[in-house]
Amino acid sequence: MKTALLGYGVVGSGVHTLTKAQPEHGVTIARMLVRRDIEAIRAIATRDFNEIVSDPSIETVVEVMGGEEPALSYVKAALRAKKNVVTANKLMLSLHYAELISLARENGAHLAFSAAVGGGIPWLTNLLRVARVDSVESLGGIMNGTTNFILTAMQQGGADFAETLAEAQRLGYAEADPTADIDGLDVRAKLALSCDAAFSQMADAAAVPALGIRHITAADVALFRQLGLTCRLIGKAERTEAGVAAYVEPTLFAADAPEAGVNGTGNVISFRCTGLGAQSFFGLGAGQSPTASAVMQDLIDTSAGTTAFDLARCNGAFIPDASSARHAYYLRTAAALPVGLAVRPLGKTPAGNACITKPLPVSALHALVQDCLAVGGSAFAAGLA
Ligand SMILES: NC(=O)c1ccc[n+]([C@@H]2O[C@H](COP(=O)([O-])OP(=O)(O)OC[C@H]3O[C@@H](n4cnc5c(N)ncnc54)[C@H](OP(=O)(O)O)[C@@H]3O)[C@@H](O)[C@H]2O)c1
Repeated sequence: MKTALLGYGVVGSGVHTLTKAQPEHGVTIARMLVRRDIEAIRAIATRDFNEIVSDPSIETVVEVMGGEEPALSYVKAALRAKKNVVTANKLMLSLHYAELISLARENGAHLAFSAAVGGGIPWLTNLLRVARVDSVESLGGIMNGTTNFILTAMQQGGADFAETLAEAQRLGYAEADPTADIDGLDVRAKLALSCDAAFSQMADAAAVPALGIRHITAADVALFRQLGLTCRLIGKAERTEAGVAAYVEPTLFAADAPEAGVNGTGNVISFRCTGLGAQSFFGLGAGQSPTASAVMQDLIDTSAGTTAFDLARCNGAFIPDASSARHAYYLRTAAALPVGLAVRPLGKTPAGNACITKPLPVSALHALVQDCLAVGGSAFAAGLA
C-alpha cells in the first residue's frame, strides 16, 4: 500500500522506521510532506501537499503533523480524493469528527485513529469492538502522561507545581506551551473521541467541562497525603438518566484504587459494560515507539480493509451533560464559599482554606471554581472518587 506521511517529527519518523523494518506488511512510505530539508528522507520529501493528493498511486495518507490547520484541510482533501487517512491528531479529530467521518463515508475511504487516545494502548479499537455487542455504561481514567508525571512527582517529592512542570519540560514530558495538558484540554479531546466510539454518537467536545491542574499547590498535595488520597487528572463519561455525563477533573483516589498506582507518564483507561463488566487498559499513552506502533496497526488494518473504525455505526450527535453526575469535592480557595457547602473543614493553606464539600453536580462545582478563580486568584478542586 503506497502511503504518504504528513509530518516527520516524533511519531512520523517512528512510523517511517517501522515500515522500513517490517516490509512484510506491504506498507511503503512513498512520499513525505515536510517544511524543511531533512537529508535522510530527501528522495521522497516534498513541501507541496498537492503532489501527494493528486498522485493516484498514493492510497493512504498518514497525518502526524498535529494541530488544527493545515492538518484538517489536508485530511479533508485526502478523503475527497478517496484516499484512506490514518491520524494520531486528537485535537483535530475531536473538533471536526462529524465532518471527517461524513467525508470518509461519502468517499468510501477508511479513517482510522487508534493512536489518538492512549498512544500505544489498544483502547479505542477494543472500545469500538465491545460497543458493537454490549452497552457501555461508563468509561474513563488517566489519559494524559504529562499531568500524571507532574502529579506523581508532586506526591512523591513535595515540590510545588511550577517547579515540577519545569522539570517535566526539561525531561521532554511537557511541551513548551503546556496549556493543552495542564488545563485538561488534551484529556477532553480524548474523552470526546472515546464517547464517540462507546456511544456511537458524536460528542460535542467543546461542551465537556474541563478542570485542570494548573492551580494545584504543594500544600494541597500535603493534605491529600494526610488523608491517604492520591490525586490524578481524570476524564470520565457515564450514562445517566439525562443522557451521557462527561467531564475532566482532578480526582482523589484511595491508595488501593488502580489509578493511585499508575505513576509517572503511565495511563490507565477503563470501561464498564452491561454484559462484559469492567475492563482496564494500562500502558504507555505516548512516546515514539508506542504511538508509531498504533499507527502501524491502523495501516495494516487499512491495507486489509478491516479497521475497527466502523464509521457507519456512528450516527447523530449529543451534547454531553455534566449536571446529572454529582459527588463530593476537595475544594481549596481564598474566596468565601456559600453557606452550607463545606461539610468538613481541612484548615488553612497559604493559598486559602481547604474543605470537603457536600455532594455537588459536576457542572455546579466547575462553575464555582471559575467564580472562585475570578475573585480569589487561586482555587483548586478535586472530586472524591
Ligand atoms: N508524540 C506522542 O507521543 C504522541 C502520542 C499520541 C498522539 N500524538 C499526536 O501525533 C501528532 C504528531 O505528534 P509528534 O509528537 O510527532 O509532533 P512533532 O514531533 O512536533 O512532529 C510534527 C511534525 O510535523 C511537522 N509539521 C508541522 N506542520 C507542518 C506543515 N505545515 N507541513 C509540513 N510538516 C509540518 C513538523 O515539522 P518541523 O520539524 O519542521 O517542526 C514536525 O516534524 C500530534 O497530533 C500529536 O497530538 C503524539
